[in-house]
Amino acid sequence: MEAKKLNLENSLKEFDHGKSLIPGGVLGIRRPYNFVEGEFPVYFDSGKGGRVTDIDGNEYIDYLCAYGPMIIGNREEEIDNAVINQIREKGFCFSLTQKYQNQLAEKMKELIPCAEMSLFVCTGSDATTTAIRLSRSYTGKKKVMRCGYHGWHDWCVEVKGGVPEKLYEDVHEFHYNNLESLENLLKEYGDDTAAVIVTPVGHPLAAEMEEPKPGFLEGCKELAHKYGAVLIFDEIRSGFRVSIGGAQKYYGVTPDMAVFGKAMANGYPIGAVTGKAEIMKEGEANVFISSTFFPNSLSFVAALKTIEILERDKVLDTIWEKGNYFIEKVQALIEKHDVGARITGIAPMMFITFDKDANKTYKAKRTEFYTQLIRKGVFLQPFHHGYICYRHTQEDLDYTINTIDEALAYIKDKYQ
Ligand SMILES: Cc1ncc(COP(=O)(O)O)c(C=O)c1O
Repeated sequence: MEAKKLNLENSLKEFDHGKSLIPGGVLGIRRPYNFVEGEFPVYFDSGKGGRVTDIDGNEYIDYLCAYGPMIIGNREEEIDNAVINQIREKGFCFSLTQKYQNQLAEKMKELIPCAEMSLFVCTGSDATTTAIRLSRSYTGKKKVMRCGYHGWHDWCVEVKGGVPEKLYEDVHEFHYNNLESLENLLKEYGDDTAAVIVTPVGHPLAAEMEEPKPGFLEGCKELAHKYGAVLIFDEIRSGFRVSIGGAQKYYGVTPDMAVFGKAMANGYPIGAVTGKAEIMKEGEANVFISSTFFPNSLSFVAALKTIEILERDKVLDTIWEKGNYFIEKVQALIEKHDVGARITGIAPMMFITFDKDANKTYKAKRTEFYTQLIRKGVFLQPFHHGYICYRHTQEDLDYTINTIDEALAYIKDKYQ
């Protein structure tokens, strides 16, 4: 049975207003065309744990988790209190650095296999760009082989408007789980290659997720080193999620450098670059890394508290259990309804997609499927994988699984 359309009156009104004030109304990936236009809300008002409420009062179980940062959940008191105490009792924005970044760098060293030295920035894009600059300085070379989304800065942004070609002409893309594509590039440009940067888990936009095939990550490392390049894992999504030591620990391949962000501070803005001391030390004098806001302490305090909770409460083990339960149940439903749906990924981050067909009905099925979910309060989106957070309850998972069952039945009815 078709679910009833949501009342989104306030969201749509606010968005109309926003369009006259802010280019595109809202920025980037949060624009309505990245969901199902007219069916998804545009603005949230509040959130608690794994749930969020939009400005029309509709409540959702949020599986997008703010595109990754909400590893525990919204309004996590212990973390927010640590931040509030810092604001009230000490302050966080000074002419000199407070001591917390040493504690955080120490923690990174303890947990993450490649971490000998670290530095902290504000966003994931800051972190990937810093890692590339350090690698170029360390090797004295300029080419970069990339695989995955690495942010919005000039060297890697996917939409090229406003970026002179010379700023990305030395960056070449290879394909995930395809060592041959990397090797071919290195055969051509290897002598001048500074870095190979890859997301250890494959999570392309709007396409099935992939785990590394046996030997893929090891092969990236071997090839990078054969040509004297730095191997960087972009762990912005997988870090502090796939395991407390990142995907590098989980898959047992240690890169030369890695970048972290998102889940690291449960929503507070932070990016981290970490790796071998000899490469990181390029940041002492040769490479200038500075921003007015990089040394602000609130995100360090939030990250320290978040990591403390992740370790103390074995949060990531619980997320794996919940995610495995979810994937197993959804897989069974996909087989039961047989409408060309597919679930890929791993327990902490998974994606339901529809197999491409010649008539392109997969696009309509995808739209209908995600429309049915959002109408019933399940916030998952058609072009980006979802996440499981610690505060998703068993009840949330079972309600979602039931809703997916109904949505797949609806699609089967309509298309077969
Ligand atoms: C793998 C990866 N790298 C880099 C980035 C850029 O991070 P940010 O959006 O914080 O700049 C993202 C953001 O989604 C990401 O997923």
